[in-house]
Amino acid sequence: MFSVPDQASDLPRHIAIIMDGNGRWARRRLLPRLEGHRQGAKAVRKAVEYCRRRGIAMLTLYAFSTENWQRPKSEVSGLMELLSQYLESELDELHSHDIKLMTIGDLGSLPHGLKARIEAAIDKTRDNSSMILNIALSYGGRRDIVNAAVKLSRALKSGALAESEVTEEMFAGCLATAGLPDPDLLIRTGGELRISNFLLWQCAYSELYFTPTLWPDFDESAMDQAVQAYRSRQRRFGKTSEQVEAGQGAI
Ligand code: IPE
Ligand code: IPE
Ligand code: MG
Repeated sequence: MFSVPDQASDLPRHIAIIMDGNGRWARRRLLPRLEGHRQGAKAVRKAVEYCRRRGIAMLTLYAFSTENWQRPKSEVSGLMELLSQYLESELDELHSHDIKLMTIGDLGSLPHGLKARIEAAIDKTRDNSSMILNIALSYGGRRDIVNAAVKLSRALKSGALAESEVTEEMFAGCLATAGLPDPDLLIRTGGELRISNFLLWQCAYSELYFTPTLWPDFDESAMDQAVQAYRSRQRRFGKTSEQVEAGQGAI
């Protein structure tokens, strides 16, 4: 179980980002796609800094989807190499800012060296408590849900659990994000209006923010705009505005 730090209430507690548009950023400059990913890594640093400074408790970054394995081999291996470099260059900084690193997704499918580096980074930062940086790597929302269903069905089959005892909370506790809050704000850069198999269950009530800005251009002021947009929304969770305004909790 992870505990997530407290923070100011009108800020999103958990921001999740679909970091899209690196390839187009490079193509517009007649550069190789990998150069776009390289610039994207710089935007990652800015997003992390922003969240840490604003006291946002958790940031989840979609770095590589289960579907991204279908990309050309050279791009996949270049991305893996960049991830490895990111960890090498940023780990001390993350650690010194009391940021805990975690991942969701199938680490077993990653190159051995990268997996080992990630595990060492998770281990080093495990007691940090000011912010969680969660990287979705070889992650697919459907896979996550299937894995949870398998876990639950094992408990049902063994008799450890009865069908009538299965709750949404219990299901959520079998997902890769067990114990963590759902994203309050989901940002997608790069202009596409889709979820691309990201946190399908967890984003059931997230506020969505889509921007045409390509990920390498997404800086602190762009992030701030997204957070301001979030603060201007009314989250109703199925209730009426009047109920929310009257501060009525459970009705
Ligand atoms: C997102 O940028 C990074 C990853 C999916 C790894 P893209 O590489 O998808 O960029 P576009 O969509 O081709 O511009
Ligand atoms: C989503 O971007 C995955 C990541 C940002 C890691 P994609 O570029 O892979 O998404 P699609 O293919 O356009 O849906
Ligand atoms: Mg893309």
